[in-house]
Amino acid sequence: MTYDFDEIIDRRNTSSEKWDNLVQVYGRDDIIPMWVADMDFKSPPEVVKVLEQRARHGIFGYPMLKDEHVEPFINWITEKHNWKLDKEWIIVNSCVVDALKTAILAFSKPGDNVVIQPPVYRPFFNIVTSNGRKLLTNPLKFENGRYSIDFEDLEVKLSEKRTKLLMLCSPHNPVGRVWKEDELIRLGELCLKYDILILSDEIHSDIVYENFKHLPISSLSKELQDSTLTFYAPSKTFNLAGLRTSFVVIPNQKLREEYETILENISSKNINIFGLLAATTAYNYGEKWLNELIVYLKENIDFTIDFFKHKLPKVKINSPEGTFLLWLDFRRYGNESFVKNVFINKAKVGLEEGSIFGQEGEGFFRMNIGCPRKILTEACNNIYIAFKE
Ligand SMILES: Cc1ncc(COP(=O)(O)O)c(C=O)c1O
Repeated sequence: MTYDFDEIIDRRNTSSEKWDNLVQVYGRDDIIPMWVADMDFKSPPEVVKVLEQRARHGIFGYPMLKDEHVEPFINWITEKHNWKLDKEWIIVNSCVVDALKTAILAFSKPGDNVVIQPPVYRPFFNIVTSNGRKLLTNPLKFENGRYSIDFEDLEVKLSEKRTKLLMLCSPHNPVGRVWKEDELIRLGELCLKYDILILSDEIHSDIVYENFKHLPISSLSKELQDSTLTFYAPSKTFNLAGLRTSFVVIPNQKLREEYETILENISSKNINIFGLLAATTAYNYGEKWLNELIVYLKENIDFTIDFFKHKLPKVKINSPEGTFLLWLDFRRYGNESFVKNVFINKAKVGLEEGSIFGQEGEGFFRMNIGCPRKILTEACNNIYIAFKE
């Protein structure tokens, strides 16, 4: 390996939510944090270097968005996901969650329904309800240890009169599914049938393991392209979440104009000079780093699954098809609050309890394995000791 993902870097006192917010979240600070979805690895060296150089310039006035900031993203999506984008389709935004909020405001009214598929990334709930929209849930089916879409229920929810939007998480956080073409087509056809716009959050699309392939739903047909907004960011891929830069792809001109109107009403253009530089450099030069990262993450996943299989076999884990998140089924160890308490106060490992991803997740725990193997090993050992009785 060219890059040293084993390097342990102290992140405390760096204003890191994951490392510096432990007392508030877990009530103590001696926790190994495996919650917030960022990784404990340095970003690609090219990115660090370009930011250092820019910092040395010393002047940080208003940034200007140029083609050179968008072209590397276009090339990346073409090469990685086989989808050719037009420059005009792309709007640079602060972060994906803000961009999703903007879309909800632009394409639904208070009282309208938005469909989500729990267990799912927690902010999907809040951004719907805090804006006065109604949540309709289409829970994923969990059969034989594998999650899939419940299409019958989906049709019921999409066909309701006030349903306007479906928020798709693709790949899916926290269950790690990379949706297959037939699943996406079937979901897309239902959305087209009931005239539902798709908000496809593809922030995890670059971290996908061997034998799986991410497909942007918008790339699957002209009709889907016209009725989908797709949300990307380099933040998971290259560990850049603090730089708050994301890309929204809206091929349909009318939708794009409506989105831009709302965006301008709620915020002035949310771009920052470091985020733009980092994204550009990562997409231009980060592929080799990413390929090695994926190998390292997969080894972390295999290590963890193997560890639990031998040490705590009552915990069930499926290997995720994408993402650096593991979804551990701890239901055989007692109720969620009991298990959570053991994690925090005996194991001293900070995971996220499944119920925050929707009631369907209750009893599961999400574990972020984006960290050096030594930290992962220590966390697994602590969990083993805490739960072995
Ligand atoms: C599915 C999904 N969407 C969005 C985000 C957050 O993206 P951002 O930081 O760009 O708002 C996350 C972070 O974990 C995520 O998992």
